[in-house]
Amino acid sequence: MYEFETVNACLILLRDMFRLQEGESIAITCDTESSMEAVEATAQAAVILGAKPVIFKIAAPAGGKAGDKDMPMEPLIQGIKSCDAWVEFNTKLIFYSTVYDKIIEDPNNRPRYMNQNGVTPEVLVRNISKLDNNLLNKFITAMADCTKNAKHIRVTSERGMDIEFDNEPGREFLVADGIVEKNEIEMFPGQISWAPNFESINGTIIVDGTLSPPLGAVKGPVKFTVKKGEIVKIEGGIDAVEFEAWLKSFNDPQMFKVAHLAYGFAPYAKLSGYIVEDERVWGCTEWGFGNVGGMLVSDIPGEQGIPGASHSDGICLNCSVWLDGVQVLDKGVVVGPTPEVVQMARALGK
Ligand SMILES: [Fe+2]
Repeated sequence: MYEFETVNACLILLRDMFRLQEGESIAITCDTESSMEAVEATAQAAVILGAKPVIFKIAAPAGGKAGDKDMPMEPLIQGIKSCDAWVEFNTKLIFYSTVYDKIIEDPNNRPRYMNQNGVTPEVLVRNISKLDNNLLNKFITAMADCTKNAKHIRVTSERGMDIEFDNEPGREFLVADGIVEKNEIEMFPGQISWAPNFESINGTIIVDGTLSPPLGAVKGPVKFTVKKGEIVKIEGGIDAVEFEAWLKSFNDPQMFKVAHLAYGFAPYAKLSGYIVEDERVWGCTEWGFGNVGGMLVSDIPGEQGIPGASHSDGICLNCSVWLDGVQVLDKGVVVGPTPEVVQMARALGK
């Protein structure tokens, strides 16, 4: 599908996001479940730019660290590490595996990286081919800065969601701003994620998009009552029952704790049942439960983060957000904090 358009999207990915230069090498990794159209279009785009692509395709392992035993670890580590850039299309993630840890261990000498786990031509073309990436970068940077500077944040929705929390001073945000600088690790563009002060999170979260894993699209709203960062009640029919049973199955109290939240700010993302795109739907907030990745709690020493048996993300559509009482989102529409930020959102078509 999209055999004409995909190369164009990949050209924007490599030229505008990676700023790939003539003569640079780029590792394109994938597994036997990946879309080879996306992989090959990326290699073609690299050739158009005068760069040198190399494709690493492996048998689909188990994801993350569980996949260590299945991966050709040394060839992947040595091969990818020696490239200037790395785009990962694997469906069973190298991300968070031991291979990944070894490749990125030196923050001053590693390939710049963008995560495109499981991305298809449809997702690439829809989200990237019409994107004004420089404008998105400016908008996301401005929104991340004002959110980072806030002390107290409130998020509501018309579904009845109403939750408040404080930011944790000094904790880094993960800003998927669409530009991959030297040595940088970036996620698919259009998202700002962060972990607030966990104890301060109180209220209700209402998931009305996707709850994944294990459910996918929810049949109706699922309501989480949260006290001091911990889920104390889950309501909402069969989805709520199934999700609570799934959390309990790990026998790990961390699974009932909020791990992070995120804004979705990808102008062309739509709910597709594919979590990487769903969590970027414009004006949503996404709430993660369970394991907290080390990058989200930069103030806690070590790479471990807060270990949990698993992790799940819930999408809450069309949110309203107040930063220290100043409204920035109204039912998913950007209304602040400054006229310039609002203007950038409108110029992005939102
Ligand atoms: Fe998450």
